[in-house]
Amino acid sequence: MTLTFGRLSAKRVIAVGLGEKPTMGSLRQAAGQAAGVAQKAKIRHLAYCVPSWLGESQALAAAVSEGAALASWRFSGYHQKPRQKDEALTKITLLGFSDQKECEAGMQRGKILANAQNLTRELGSRPSNELYPQKLAEAAVEAGKTYGFDVEVFDEVKLAELKMGALLGVGSGSVYPPRLVVMRYQGGGDKTLGLVGKGITFDSGGISLKPPAGMEEMKYDMLGAGAVLGAMTAIAQLRPPINVVGIMAIAQNMPSGSSYKPGDVVTAFNGKTIEVTNTDAEGRVVLADGVSYAAHLGVDWIVETSTLTGAAIIVLGHEATALVATDDALASQVETAANAEGERVWRLPIYPEYRKLYESDVADIKNSPGRDAGTITGGMIISEFAGDVPFAHLDIAGTAWTKAGPLNAKFGPTGVMVRTFAALAELMA
Ligand code: BES
Ligand code: ZN
Ligand code: MN
Repeated sequence: MTLTFGRLSAKRVIAVGLGEKPTMGSLRQAAGQAAGVAQKAKIRHLAYCVPSWLGESQALAAAVSEGAALASWRFSGYHQKPRQKDEALTKITLLGFSDQKECEAGMQRGKILANAQNLTRELGSRPSNELYPQKLAEAAVEAGKTYGFDVEVFDEVKLAELKMGALLGVGSGSVYPPRLVVMRYQGGGDKTLGLVGKGITFDSGGISLKPPAGMEEMKYDMLGAGAVLGAMTAIAQLRPPINVVGIMAIAQNMPSGSSYKPGDVVTAFNGKTIEVTNTDAEGRVVLADGVSYAAHLGVDWIVETSTLTGAAIIVLGHEATALVATDDALASQVETAANAEGERVWRLPIYPEYRKLYESDVADIKNSPGRDAGTITGGMIISEFAGDVPFAHLDIAGTAWTKAGPLNAKFGPTGVMVRTFAALAELMA
């Protein structure tokens, strides 16, 4: 075989195009496509001829191994008779590298990032009767043990002690009480990055009930928290010299006799009051406590992510994550990290005029300002709880879940923002 320089006798060759303008992203994707084809053909060992002219060896190796591992992931599901699984791709070999060490380091990095995203995807696939708040918190505890970071879980008793009335309010309609999870990675140095995620294990809308069509998809309303957890596992293995606090604000939004209701006023951890005008705008309410707790811990930046608004899908479709930031420097660092990882983010403006949209007559703010600039006001409302800490909000409502497929998986959670967060931790270090 000429392609393998006579060193391997490949039985089959898969040719995958990299597009007109090849990038690390298209390489990652092409590697995934090849892995998908290989799996269908029950090929267990795949050798990649990596185009060495495309970039540095370590980045090339990372992109290929990451793409292969992302494409190999499947949610196992709950069928009585387990679905026949595609034959697992058990081994990949990279050809055309002169430096073995760099190649291995790159492959290791790719594997770490892919596994982190796959953890997030796994959690996003699990239905809410199986992944309710306590279970999501337990997943964090388990990950902390495996990857070596500290995890603290606040149950409903502790949340009441801390006066987290916002998270408790959203969680009050469910028999599964809410949780706040604080994860800590100590990489040293004097800076701390705060990551905060929305963890609504199911969003029925609550008393402001959603229409039934497509409501089953609202099991993935915890993917902001899922991304923070996935990122923590990656960061704990990549070990950048920075401290990272990851917070998950977790609740199940349900209608019941004990639910929070339109007209209710809840008080967040930082003392700010919120008039609830729509119980379906619950993300910003739980994040009020999550973000104000991050600020209380004295982090230097807060980057928050959530499946926050349907409006984000109206603006950007499923092709980019909406960014709303109070700080230009932080916004551009988030953009740099996202660009480096091939995850699209698009910044929306904050104009002071928008503030009056969420003014309330009875409380400091109201949670549901109406349709105008919905993605922006969502981000701005959450930013009110960051105090003076530079703040960025990433609305992943359109990007956290795909119907067309992350690589060749048919549909499901993408694990978006895991890579960006890992890169951001390295960038800020
Ligand atoms: N979780 C939803 C947003 C969402 C919608 C995510 C579709 C993914 C796909 C969120 O809690 C919500 O219901 N938002 C409301 C906000 C409104 C009431 C201000 C929305 O977007 O309609
Ligand atoms: Zn929601
Ligand atoms: Mn909602």
